[in-house]
Amino acid sequence: MKAVLYPGSFDPVTNGHLDVIKRACRLFDKVIVGVAVNAEKSPLFTTEERLEMLKSVCRNIGNVEILSFKGLLLNAVTEFNAAAVIRGLRAVSDFEYEFQMALMNRELNSECETIFMMPSPEYSFTSSRLMKEIARCGGDISAFIPPVVVEALKRKLNRQTP
Ligand code: PNS
Repeated sequence: MKAVLYPGSFDPVTNGHLDVIKRACRLFDKVIVGVAVNAEKSPLFTTEERLEMLKSVCRNIGNVEILSFKGLLLNAVTEFNAAAVIRGLRAVSDFEYEFQMALMNRELNSECETIFMMPSPEYSFTSSRLMKEIARCGGDISAFIPPVVVEALKRKLNRQTP
C-alpha cells in the first residue's frame, strides 16, 4: 500500500489543488493531504477551517485522507508513513522554490523523495494568495475555487470588514 503526502497551506484550497489531489489519487493507493499548521505564514483561515474545507471538497474521493501537521514536513512524512511528497508545479516560476525545498528535504532525510505533478493548464495561474486578494477587492473567483470555499471566503472577509 503506497501512501503519499501532499502538503500545503491550503489557505484556502483551490481547484488547482483539487486537480492535483485527483491526479495523485489515480496513481497511489492513498493520498494524505497535509495541512501545514504554519505560524510563520499567518493564514487567513484557521487550521480547522482549512481541514473542513478540504474534507468537504474531497468527500467523494475514496482514497484521500485529510490531516494536519506541525513542524517539519519530513517528520510528517515519517509519521504518516508516506512513500513520497507530492507537490504541484504550475509554471516554471514555481520551480526554483520547489527544487530548493525538495533537495533540502532530501538532504535532511535521504529517503524523503518529492514527486512533482502538473495541474491542468487552466489552473496554471490560480493561487490561494490571488484568490484572497481578488475576493477582498470584490472580484468573482467562482471559476477558480469550489463553491463551499467561495462561501467560506465571503463569510470570513465580511467578518473582517469593520
Ligand atoms: O502551500 P504552500 O504554502 O506552498 O506549502 C508550503 C509547505 C507547507 C509545504 C512548506 O512551507 C513546508 O513544508 N512547511 C513545513 C516546515 C518545513 O518542513 N520547512 C522546511 C522545508 S525545506
